[in-house]
Amino acid sequence: MKLLALESSCDETSAAIIEDGRILSNVVSSQISLHAQYGGVVPELATREHLKNLPVVTRQALEEAHTSPRQLDAIAATRGPGLPGALLIGLKAAQTMAFVLQKPFFGIHHHEGHLYSAWIEQEPDATPPVPRINMENFEPTIALVVSGGHTLLVHVESPLKHYVLGSTLDDAAGECFDKTAKLLGLPYPGGPVMDRLAKGGNPDAFDFPRPLLNKPGYDFSFSGLKTSVRYFLRDHPDIAETDQGLRDLCASVQNAIVEVLVGKAIQAARKLKVHCISAAGGVSANSRLRDSLSLACQRRKIKLRMATGTLCADNAGMIGALAWLKLSQGAPGDSLDLEPKPNWELPSA
Ligand code: KG4
Ligand code: ZN
Repeated sequence: MKLLALESSCDETSAAIIEDGRILSNVVSSQISLHAQYGGVVPELATREHLKNLPVVTRQALEEAHTSPRQLDAIAATRGPGLPGALLIGLKAAQTMAFVLQKPFFGIHHHEGHLYSAWIEQEPDATPPVPRINMENFEPTIALVVSGGHTLLVHVESPLKHYVLGSTLDDAAGECFDKTAKLLGLPYPGGPVMDRLAKGGNPDAFDFPRPLLNKPGYDFSFSGLKTSVRYFLRDHPDIAETDQGLRDLCASVQNAIVEVLVGKAIQAARKLKVHCISAAGGVSANSRLRDSLSLACQRRKIKLRMATGTLCADNAGMIGALAWLKLSQGAPGDSLDLEPKPNWELPSA
């Protein structure tokens, strides 16, 4: 079973070929340098870029996987959530291909794609190594899905059966990184830049709030943390001017965000008696989050699964891997008339 997957929900245009759960190719064209000059994603520009880049990444994904369109058994694309115009490009392209090839089409939830990317592993004996989604040894999991647009804590009860325990009430974790970085005069997207600078800083230098960490429930709130950084900079304008001060600030803000994410995931695992935690989405690339989660899980003998490398960020490989899971479980596919769902939410408890 071979399928083509497209992802165009935000500022990455991506195409991937999946064969029996293996990601044979996963081509990502990033628009970051285009949007960086505006300090964030400009939706109209993103739409036009997807239109331009989609044929290029699709052709490359097919070539890298030595696949012709006639060999495809299904086509998948991200249906939502995301920017309406951007989603429309990938979704309609995929539906048109499915119509022409007379193959099933799958409209995939972007966050479900991130969620299940934590089960994509490198196949040990394959040379070169091929990432493959593997849910054979599944156990119930508390999943952190942390990206620029969303922060979710999800209870995955069995493969493809999951519900949201909590989400952010305001800014997402990635948004908090990006907005704080902007306050510090750092380029967009700020998350990876802060991560890098924080390596030379003291995470305990400044005490920023850990919103909702000690409150019951699994929701998050990061806008107050960003505001407290703004007030801190107003009251201490000189600190971010020095290299060490900037590094300490990055490390301290990062520490606050990470403590909340790790703390809530552990609380949920303990309360629901779940012995596995996963993390995926752009922010799961954060080195402190990865280290802190590893340590916290090790101490409590909780198994940890994390998305790896380019699979943390937006990519069509994770969309295709999930479509393949659905296909392999007998899902019939979706209507070719399906419209994008820019505000699509996952089911809640
Ligand atoms: O999942 P993603 O690629 O796109 C969305 O679906 O939003 O996530 C992008 C977010 C951005 O906010 C970016 O700053 C953040 O992930 N991010 C990071 C790191 N790498 C990416 N945040 C913190 N540390 C990182 N290393
Ligand atoms: Zn994403």
